[in-house]
Amino acid sequence: MPTTRTPAEAEPRTFSQALRERSWPLHDVANGAGFINALMEGRISREGYTALVTQHLFVYEALESVAAGMRDDPVAGPFVTDELERVPSLRADLAHLLGGADAIDDLEALPATRRYADRIRETAQWPGGFVAHHYTRYLGDLSGGLAVGTLVSRTYGLDLGGDGVRFYHFDRIPKPRPFKDAYRARLDAAPWNPDERERVIDEVILAYGLNTEIFVELGAAHPAAG
Ligand code: HEM
Repeated sequence: MPTTRTPAEAEPRTFSQALRERSWPLHDVANGAGFINALMEGRISREGYTALVTQHLFVYEALESVAAGMRDDPVAGPFVTDELERVPSLRADLAHLLGGADAIDDLEALPATRRYADRIRETAQWPGGFVAHHYTRYLGDLSGGLAVGTLVSRTYGLDLGGDGVRFYHFDRIPKPRPFKDAYRARLDAAPWNPDERERVIDEVILAYGLNTEIFVELGAAHPAAG
């Protein structure tokens, strides 16, 4: 006699599903930060937006410098792909927003951004930790980030995908969905034992918190209008 199986039993959770499920509450906390809501509603000044792009530059410089060293790593290497690279786009955006590339050298990171970038750099010795940070940023950029880019370009009168908002446009990833599916398949194929999987999930949760702290500091420095 056939037994009745629940969908969960019929289809066991993959690691990428467990990672998403366990970290999603923190995703909502990060998005709930006042600064992000106000940004989406067009209530952040151009200076405030420039400050956000500045923080992104420090974060992605850390991420992409660790990525460069991970290219040949058997576990983290498959995640590192050129089409994700954001630093050149961020530098172009900032040159536009600041009225010249020279001003980029004078930018300073917020304390929360320094903490985040430091943590990312520490994962140069830990491939799983690096993947956790890589996932948190790039999969987010390829998801909600695309919608943020559309709204932000409208708010500040910038051309979608042009200088000022290049960061939000992946010209070498025309179809994010299959890219993200392949990315999740790589997460599922990573040779992590249950303990290491737990550590990776914890690092993603930490990464969300570090992002939230940046939004809190940005919100304090650049209060929303209205
Ligand atoms: C206004 C801001 C944001 C919005 C509207 C947003 C929205 C979304 C949506 C709708 C998805 C699901 C996409 C899908 O199922 O393929 C998603 C996924 C994701 N977001 Fe966000 N997001 C925002 C900000 C962020 C931030 C700040 C981070 C982290 C720093 C982030 C990290 C992620 C990650 C890692 C995923 C992939 C989850 C997974 O499928 O495993 N998002 N976001």
